[in-house]
Amino acid sequence: MYFHINAILLLFYNYEYIKKKILVTCALPYANGSIHIGHLLEHIQADIWVRYKKMIGHEVWFCCADDSHGTAIMIESKKSCISPESLISCVSKEHQSDFKKFNISHDHYSSTNSRINKNFVKNIYLTLKKNKFIIENNVEQLYDLKEGMFLPDRFIRGICPVCYQKDQYGDNCESCGSIYKAVELINPISNLSLTKPVLRNTVHLFFSLSALEDKLKKWVFSGVIEQKVLNKLKEWFQFGLKDWDISRDSPYFGFKIPDFLDKYFYVWFDALISYISSFQELCQKEQLNFYEFWKENSNVELYHFIGKDIIYFHALFWPAILEAINFRKPTKIFVHGYLTYQGIKLSKSRGSIISAKKWIKYLDSDSLRYYYASKLSSNMDDIEMNLEEFTKKINSDIVNKIVNLAARNASFLNNFFENHLSSQLDDINLYQFFVNSTHAIGRYWEDRKFNLAIRKIIELSDLANEYINNKKPWNISDITINSDLHNICSTGINFFRIIIICIKPVMPDLIKRSEKFLITKLNWESIKFPLLNHKISIFKPLYKRIDFNFLKDHF
Ligand code: 2FM
Ligand code: ZN
Repeated sequence: MYFHINAILLLFYNYEYIKKKILVTCALPYANGSIHIGHLLEHIQADIWVRYKKMIGHEVWFCCADDSHGTAIMIESKKSCISPESLISCVSKEHQSDFKKFNISHDHYSSTNSRINKNFVKNIYLTLKKNKFIIENNVEQLYDLKEGMFLPDRFIRGICPVCYQKDQYGDNCESCGSIYKAVELINPISNLSLTKPVLRNTVHLFFSLSALEDKLKKWVFSGVIEQKVLNKLKEWFQFGLKDWDISRDSPYFGFKIPDFLDKYFYVWFDALISYISSFQELCQKEQLNFYEFWKENSNVELYHFIGKDIIYFHALFWPAILEAINFRKPTKIFVHGYLTYQGIKLSKSRGSIISAKKWIKYLDSDSLRYYYASKLSSNMDDIEMNLEEFTKKINSDIVNKIVNLAARNASFLNNFFENHLSSQLDDINLYQFFVNSTHAIGRYWEDRKFNLAIRKIIELSDLANEYINNKKPWNISDITINSDLHNICSTGINFFRIIIICIKPVMPDLIKRSEKFLITKLNWESIKFPLLNHKISIFKPLYKRIDFNFLKDHF
């Protein structure tokens, strides 16, 4: 049974939304190392979400920056005999180029060392001070006599005071997970000079969180954070919030604290604030209204994508700063798990890491984006990078199911119908089923249940291939004049089109090739209108199969 185009236009595709303004951020990568597939997990997750939101019509701004301050960067620059400023400028270029290769669509990428951030940090600090949120305290810290400096936790190693595991950092034990103070480590050693550090007194500045505890509690439990993350936060509240040490002694690479000769803002203080300043820079580029986004009770939505290791900073310190300066707080904080590779957590400082550059040397960006999407959910479970599973998914889902659907139908259209799609669909009910299914897929993108969105997309691909298998277009005789064959293959191409539109937030490069093949822009809105009476291109392979043996040799 055939339906005319007008009947199809009447198909009811009800996708309603209210256009929103949204600001999205990712955690800032440190400027002392290259981007690796662990960073990419988060940036790809956020990018898919941002692309989907833009696709359905929202105004979305996606900001990030390099985290350019701190002892690690100071030391790295000394080792490389260049100024920290030159180092962070080179690294910033490298980071941005890496992100670009993975199609991460940041609207602005700044640095915590920017002039605007310096101003914000200073002014916010002065506001906190004026409002009596800053207190001075004596602290006892480990000091490296040889290097002439206080040691940050990450530059001290020793025996865990809880489980006695050797070679643990000064802030937490990677073996038993305990959190402790560096001074509690047994037999501490400086990572810089390999000498035994001594205890020294110094004065530090603290941001008094206790004064904001009630307000923070109210915010944290108001639905902005997922249940599992909340359980962790409950523990922290139970023990009472500790004031936050926001200063570091010289030598340090960062912004100087006003009225102190030798004190700098702690790298995390200016990193969080650069969410604001990076956006302010974007406002200047795009003529946006800064105040509309950051005023208290703003209607604009603000989302931070982060890993589970930095919840404390984002769910407590960050809203505390915002509360204290009467700025809006985040709408939601999206927390993901760690990426593990060969069972090992890809930590920021050690472990076997596949760099972005290495990945792109042997593989393409869409494949990583697809693989992550197929594994990411809205919870914070860890995600294992398994290259065998990766190969299977790409070859089976993308090559055999999705791209092959286009290939097998296109061959008839190219050979017998002068690359033209027919004016009718062969199975309007099935087409309507596809359209209806896109609602659930959209919902899954929205809710960051990417694994479920992909599962549904693959179900549709199976269904479309099954439809073609049942219709057996290759058995239809007298093909040049047969309208059945024409309608069947055109329907197959229309199924491919819906599938590929659904996957658009994930695979921007495949989308570009598919748009060329279909000679049309692929957008969510157009799902409801089938592509009929339309010329397509000669089919060229849209995706290359991956050879696992080749991967095994290179990774
Ligand atoms: O954990 C990290 O890698 C930090 N550089 C993230 C900073 S995010 C924010 F505070 F800016
Ligand atoms: Zn331990």
